[in-house]
Amino acid sequence: MQRRDQEAALSIRGLYKVFADDGAGLELALQGRAKDEIQEETGAVVGLRDINIDIRRGELFVVMGLSGCGKSTLVRCINRLIEPSLGEVWLGGREVTAMGEDELREVRRRDMAMVFQHFGLMPHRNVLDNIGFPLEVGGVEKRERRRRAVEALELVGLGEWGGAMPSQLSGGMKQRVGLARALALDTPLMLMDEPFSALDPVIRRDLQDELLQLQQEVQKTIVFITHDLNEAVRVGDRIAIMRDGTVVQEDAPNEVVLNPRDDFVREFTQDVRLHGMITAASIMDSSPQALAGPMSASESVPEDAVLDDLVPAGLRATHPLRVLDEGGQVVGVIPLERLARAMASDEAAAAVARN
Ligand SMILES: Nc1ncnc2c1ncn2[C@@H]1O[C@H](COP(=O)(O)OP(=O)(O)OP(=O)(O)O)[C@@H](O)[C@H]1O
Ligand SMILES: [Mg+2]
Repeated sequence: MQRRDQEAALSIRGLYKVFADDGAGLELALQGRAKDEIQEETGAVVGLRDINIDIRRGELFVVMGLSGCGKSTLVRCINRLIEPSLGEVWLGGREVTAMGEDELREVRRRDMAMVFQHFGLMPHRNVLDNIGFPLEVGGVEKRERRRRAVEALELVGLGEWGGAMPSQLSGGMKQRVGLARALALDTPLMLMDEPFSALDPVIRRDLQDELLQLQQEVQKTIVFITHDLNEAVRVGDRIAIMRDGTVVQEDAPNEVVLNPRDDFVREFTQDVRLHGMITAASIMDSSPQALAGPMSASESVPEDAVLDDLVPAGLRATHPLRVLDEGGQVVGVIPLERLARAMASDEAAAAVARN
């Protein structure tokens, strides 16, 4: 088992989940046997296999992958709504997987909140009472519940809607209430399982923006599940891509797109419109070594230049491009082969979009 990152807000170590298992399935999974083989032989379904993740305080960590790859299983193993078959979950210095019932209940209440895809609002309670419900369950007294619910509703931009019933709200508003309900718990960790997947694209973008803005204010540690790469790239500080219960790549968004670890990730990332996402700043090398290299003959580009602007500069250039900030300071360089790779992934994306 790898060493745990002491600084991490959340650490997952050697985590396995095998469903409908009497032990034989886990044994085969530990031997590295394939999911479908294991299912055929024992009837057990491998949900997660040897997951190791460290998430930093204040980080928005995205878990992404196709349907059935294990995203929900992973997020539910974190709060033990699903009991892991093997491995450890650490929240700061405390091992969640070693907790007894009482301690677990306490941690669920104080340390982590969950936002679901289908908002799960209670139809006969108004918005404020919905937001206050988990607090009520947690024994928080009425006035304090109300105060926190009002504040959370403000945060998601629905301050006026506290007295409304869920049936009066649109899908996007319901999800904002779901978000407010989690925020009102005031936990350092938020687990969000496809929170925006049921919403139409425009509302979805709005909520992504709002989440990012909110995140600046409240600085939670967030595990955010999605099956949409556009969304992952927009909101994530880091992205883990899962397949068949394992993490196949864990990286910054631009790394996932520019340096896919294998064909699966490459295919996944080609399928997306990336024009606005690739900027000089996102692909530059800003290491001291890169900045110390000779620069006299190279072309300069601003750090917010998008790929369409970088390509002509790259075609003219014979040396790495220099990246300048607003004040004209060199903040990084872009090696031409790196630019070529970015163009390749973008071309593929454009071809997909044309088809
Ligand atoms: N209770 C269960 N019993 C048996 N198998 C299960 C159970 N829950 C999940 N699985 C299996 O575990 C695997 C992972 O499921 P999971 O729900 O975590 O996927 P997901 O990535 O969240 O998918 P989606 O994008 O559709 O929500 C799947 O093969 C699924 O069939
Ligand atoms: Mg799921």
